[in-house]
Amino acid sequence: MALERLDKIIASCTAYSRREVKILVKRGAVLVDGAAARFSDMKIDPQTSAITVNGTRIAYQKFIYVMLNKPAGVVSSTEEKGMTTVLDLVDDEIRRRGVFPAGRLDRDTTGFVLLTDDGAFAHDILSPSNHVTKTYILTAAHKLTDAQAAEMTWGFPMDGELLLPSALRLVKDDLQPVYEIKIRQGKYHQIKRMFAHFDNQVLALRRVAIGGLSLDPDLQAGAYRELTPEEKNSITVENNSESR
Ligand code: URA
Repeated sequence: MALERLDKIIASCTAYSRREVKILVKRGAVLVDGAAARFSDMKIDPQTSAITVNGTRIAYQKFIYVMLNKPAGVVSSTEEKGMTTVLDLVDDEIRRRGVFPAGRLDRDTTGFVLLTDDGAFAHDILSPSNHVTKTYILTAAHKLTDAQAAEMTWGFPMDGELLLPSALRLVKDDLQPVYEIKIRQGKYHQIKRMFAHFDNQVLALRRVAIGGLSLDPDLQAGAYRELTPEEKNSITVENNSESR
């Protein structure tokens, strides 16, 4: 049984700020299990208590999971002076929960960023030992040779350790070919450095899936939505047939 402050619970899942909750409590507009709450800082178990604000039962969620389609030019850190961050793209209600990106993308990389306030889940999907692959589509400056593609797949040293195997697939055979790559680690500029290792260059990079969950194609650049519990669970239930 985890007890939490009433004002914190309400502020985390409604548009009310803690200050506003205090006022609502004073007015008798907040009920806990049918009785008017007397203090906004009273401790309750949100899993078992029914909280009503102005007659509406609030839907408490312990954690939140948000899929964001990051546009180019936006940084993945939670704060960076003079820059638009992924947190600037979501509304106050979500930001106030203390969400952070579970894995960063470079400023010029687009696509799937998962925002959550669930630290343990973020750790699980980022830890290479948990085999949650991240899938990217990229345009390269030129085609890899067969030997390079094999070396890319099996891994080579980076930052003093051997990269874990990745899965590479040629999606479009062109002057500037398009590849799909699935990686498990999240080293700084990892994919760009993997291509630079072969004197190649990544011209465009987009994350299209995290584990078994693909970026919703209906999400415009900069748009986001909450995941359903099934979608959240599908992240860690992965079809690993392509990645060894
Ligand atoms: N690899 C990169 O080089 N950049 C990213 O943004 C993600 C993976």
